[in-house]
Amino acid sequence: MNIGDLPVFPDQASTSAASVDFVALMVLGVCLFFAFAVLIVMIYFLVHYRAGNKKVDRSNPPLSNDYVEWTWIAIPTLLSIGLFGGGARVYYDLYQMPSDPKTVIDVVGKQWMWQLYYPDGRKEINALHLRVGDKVELRMISEDVIHSFFIPDFRTKHDVMPGRYTYLWFEPKTPGDYHLFCTEYCGTSHDEMQGWVHVLSPQDYQKWQHTEAQTGSPSERGAKVFTKYGCAQCHNTSDVSGGARGIVGPRLHGLYGQTVALEGGGSVVADEQYLRDSILYPQKQIVAGFDPIMPSFDKRINEPEMLDLLAYIRSIGGQK
Ligand code: CUA
Repeated sequence: MNIGDLPVFPDQASTSAASVDFVALMVLGVCLFFAFAVLIVMIYFLVHYRAGNKKVDRSNPPLSNDYVEWTWIAIPTLLSIGLFGGGARVYYDLYQMPSDPKTVIDVVGKQWMWQLYYPDGRKEINALHLRVGDKVELRMISEDVIHSFFIPDFRTKHDVMPGRYTYLWFEPKTPGDYHLFCTEYCGTSHDEMQGWVHVLSPQDYQKWQHTEAQTGSPSERGAKVFTKYGCAQCHNTSDVSGGARGIVGPRLHGLYGQTVALEGGGSVVADEQYLRDSILYPQKQIVAGFDPIMPSFDKRINEPEMLDLLAYIRSIGGQK
């Protein structure tokens, strides 16, 4: 019997669900224990020391008792530390992205839908198809306001914010259909911002892959975005040894994941957030040795285009 089988609880459909439930039930258990302990003692005192009960000894009330005081300091302290330790452990596991092989799926939140972009180029709205046992990392961003991505059966959620990538991971362990919600009030149709996570067996997943049409890989689409916005006029993408200089701007070949020295000192790792900020707010972090002449593409490139563009930049130089 596990608690996912109880009708009041969501299924425990991910590998993290049981440990999240364990911590939640521990907190609940400790709260209930002390709530009832205090209540029972309170009722006993109410009855026992009621006005007019002549049998009670009311002389010489004790002013302090070191033994009792140390007990009520020590036990709650140890319990709190235990709960903190357990909670911190589970939280760390939930929000530390796994380094082992995983599928990275892009999520764009938008009033009022979830757009999902798979590494092979598929797109879906309000539906997420996964293969059971695959570790999945979601890279999420919002096109407008703050949303929050929540799969109750996986016991995991995270805010989805404009202008900033946030990450979530899970490993579905049971095939089935699980509800997916926006759990941040994001406007009048917030309640419509929901969908389904379909966890499929390997056979069913293969069938699904065959029936859904593909639209070219993200990096192929990104190459078109690169051309559309004229990025190639300033940025060289070919591998020519002889410095980082492209045509006018920095060379992009092999840039992703590299440490970039900045004008005025300091450095930054060229991850998704840095690349995105450099495209939208080019004056923010100038690469050492370059002039701040790049125009801003803020309000011009939308989030799905940005994801494709980043996939393209990641692909230049053969990195994933
Ligand atoms: Cu998006 Cu609520």
